[in-house]
Amino acid sequence: MKITDLEQEINKRKTFAIISHPDAGKTTLTEKILFLSGAIRSAGTVKSRKSEKFATSDWMEMEKQRGISITSSVMQFTYNNFNINILDTPGHQDFSEDTYRTLMAVDSVVMIIDAAKGVEAQTKKLFKVCSDRGIPIFTFVNKMDRQGRDPFELLEDIEEVLGIQSYPMNWPIGMGKSFQGVYDRILNKVHLYNEQKEHHSYNLNDDGLKGDKIKELIEPDELSDLQDTVSLLDEAGDSLDLDAIKEGKQTPVFFGSAITSFGIPAFMEHFLELAPEPQGRESDQGQISPSDPSFTGFVFKIQANMNPAHRDRIAFMRICSGKFSKGMEAWNDRTNKSFKLAQGQQFFAASRGNIDEAYPGDIIGLYDPGMYRIGDTLCGTKNTISYGELPQFPPEHFAKVRAKNAMKQKHFYKGVAQLSEEGAVQVYKTATMEETIIGVVGVLQFEVFENRLKSEYGVDLEILPLPHTCARWVSKEKPFKVESSNYQAHDQQGNPVIIFENDFSLRWFQNKNPDVQLNEKR
Ligand code: G4P
Repeated sequence: MKITDLEQEINKRKTFAIISHPDAGKTTLTEKILFLSGAIRSAGTVKSRKSEKFATSDWMEMEKQRGISITSSVMQFTYNNFNINILDTPGHQDFSEDTYRTLMAVDSVVMIIDAAKGVEAQTKKLFKVCSDRGIPIFTFVNKMDRQGRDPFELLEDIEEVLGIQSYPMNWPIGMGKSFQGVYDRILNKVHLYNEQKEHHSYNLNDDGLKGDKIKELIEPDELSDLQDTVSLLDEAGDSLDLDAIKEGKQTPVFFGSAITSFGIPAFMEHFLELAPEPQGRESDQGQISPSDPSFTGFVFKIQANMNPAHRDRIAFMRICSGKFSKGMEAWNDRTNKSFKLAQGQQFFAASRGNIDEAYPGDIIGLYDPGMYRIGDTLCGTKNTISYGELPQFPPEHFAKVRAKNAMKQKHFYKGVAQLSEEGAVQVYKTATMEETIIGVVGVLQFEVFENRLKSEYGVDLEILPLPHTCARWVSKEKPFKVESSNYQAHDQQGNPVIIFENDFSLRWFQNKNPDVQLNEKR
């Protein structure tokens, strides 16, 4: 295949995630985008999975739920001739490391903010992972049809809480009951809103907000406010800086209302223009360009399938360079073994199908008989490159675990090792007593862990939740003493770790041992 054809495929692709605090409107926005693209014919397709709430203690139900979230954890469809891959980042009770790792596989994110609530806790956490990667972040301020906070206050919130410059791409005209629409500062257009969802857009002439056309469209009072605000933004606000957007230092902000679809077509128009195509990725051999003809990709997520009878797993791979073809030979950098990539799965909201080829930016699912690990690099030729391990994220909840029945010890260790490799939990062994402690980002992971050990390894667990809140890797092991309320331990690879009771005990340790370097990520 000629490079130019490959480049054409790359330029058609956008791979992103939508992040938000629960209830800000992620499901609604996703659904409306799918609807506008023509990928779904009626509203409710995506939404219905949310209503399938499950009893977390019921393993079969949980499998079902996880099955559902497999098929919807990647959504692929076309929108205005672009091939879109949306990666789902569950923000609800199943919040886990998976959510963070998914953000390692996207080229940009859309951050939704509820206009009445501003920046919320979960958004802050997810934002941090994105901003550490320096990827572009687009902000959609949702629910403008309801009375919310002052738009300036919301921008201030974004800038102060998240530490990113904001650039309002459009400006709302009124809010809540008096919401009339938005003015698009870039395209000099007015999009008018009405509750009956009959939205209209008007191009303004060169005089923009000072011309006659706008006078016919909005009330004099609203117009005068809008004129003042927009000139203030033009004169005193930051200017649109495409480089800063690319580096994730400035976020373009859009105001709209997902539930009424208001502002979404305009948002998508700008997003598709500004969001990057699949980007190069750092490897042990330097930056690999997506247009490099050698096929490479990495596994960022592994999930057990919904069919417990077969217990097959799917490894989610992001393609980074070259072309994937069904049946091609690939090498795994960790095992240095080659195998045939017999069947790739492509995902849509509620279904999946086999594919013959895929390109950089695409996410494909590979059947995993246990040969993949999170962070594996797959290459079309032997001994080429490695994208290295994916970062491990600091767990926030800890528990001591052991098998209730001592005769099941062997199965217990096997299961613990497997689930640790899958990235389902982080596992530590205490230095003195060799007790097993597991650490998770979201508490639901404890239940997944317990259920899977029982159903897959036949082990009943005793779980003792610990009050501890943070673990730190110790990068230089110098002699030091750990207070008895904290645990000195090792991770699965034998790296030294300290598990602290709280921030205070962490700071206390740090003050007493300034020479010991503590790291949040391995
Ligand atoms: P999430 O995935 O981020 O958790 O949020 P989701 O889309 O489920 O939206 C959360 C709630 O906010 C839903 O209401 C949804 O209808 C509402 N919502 C989303 N976008 C808008 C908007 O632009 N304006 C207004 N006014 N509401 C919006 P719910 O009552 O929790 O659920 P439902 O009964 O509507 O399904």
